[in-house]
Amino acid sequence: MSRTPITAGNWKMNKTVEEASVFAEALLAGLPGMDGIEVIICPPFTALYPLSQKCAGSPVQIAPQNMHWEAKGAFTGEISAGMIQECHCHYVVLGHSERRHIFRETSEEIGKKVKAALDAHLCPILCVGETIEEREVGKTEQIIKEQLLLGLTSVSPEKASQVVVAYEPVWAIGTGKAATPDDAHFVISYIRQFIGDEYGPVVAEAVRILYGGSVTPDNVYDFMKDPDIDGTLVGGASLDPAKFLKIIQESRRAK
Ligand code: 13P
Repeated sequence: MSRTPITAGNWKMNKTVEEASVFAEALLAGLPGMDGIEVIICPPFTALYPLSQKCAGSPVQIAPQNMHWEAKGAFTGEISAGMIQECHCHYVVLGHSERRHIFRETSEEIGKKVKAALDAHLCPILCVGETIEEREVGKTEQIIKEQLLLGLTSVSPEKASQVVVAYEPVWAIGTGKAATPDDAHFVISYIRQFIGDEYGPVVAEAVRILYGGSVTPDNVYDFMKDPDIDGTLVGGASLDPAKFLKIIQESRRAK
């Protein structure tokens, strides 16, 4: 079965609505002809609705970087799956390492978010990844396994193939030190095997697994030519439309 590749740009806390709009115009102008790949932009909450309006009818999807698991209520600073749907979003990033490490989100909480997203017919992009300390003591697989077990705890086999997993080693994020394609391959194969053990071979074949961490136009081809790597989650290089377009182009060339 062939998996449609994904190029996703996580803008983190960058770009005003105005800046997002300028970016979208440049991206949309450069996209024609680039079919066969899903393009996702993850702007700050403030730009979700205007960007989804701007990109309506185009191949570009807009997705938030986080959400809460409850539908509504006294949760100051949070937004719900329903609010995300209202912005015409189809994907939501959950469990990003900055959420885990800066905002102390636990894997249990992330599991509740994954469930709430799927219940609302949103596809979660579940981020997992080890720190440098964990890697140096040989705990990479153990950490990934724990994050997957808790993150997917309430996910039924019927819904599992809608989950996208993003492997983002924490030490590669924003450091300019990307994992080697071999390192990424090793962990991504492990993730696919884990999904196969939990959900069976059909789901394991269908689930898309992305690599993230210092992806650039120059290194993306080497990740994407690996048959097990279905896309990338790009931070810094997704802020510049020319670089992001080049990453999409290189990703298509590799598949
Ligand atoms: P960088 O591409 O800036 O390393 O960020 C990766 C990331 O965190 C994407 O979610």
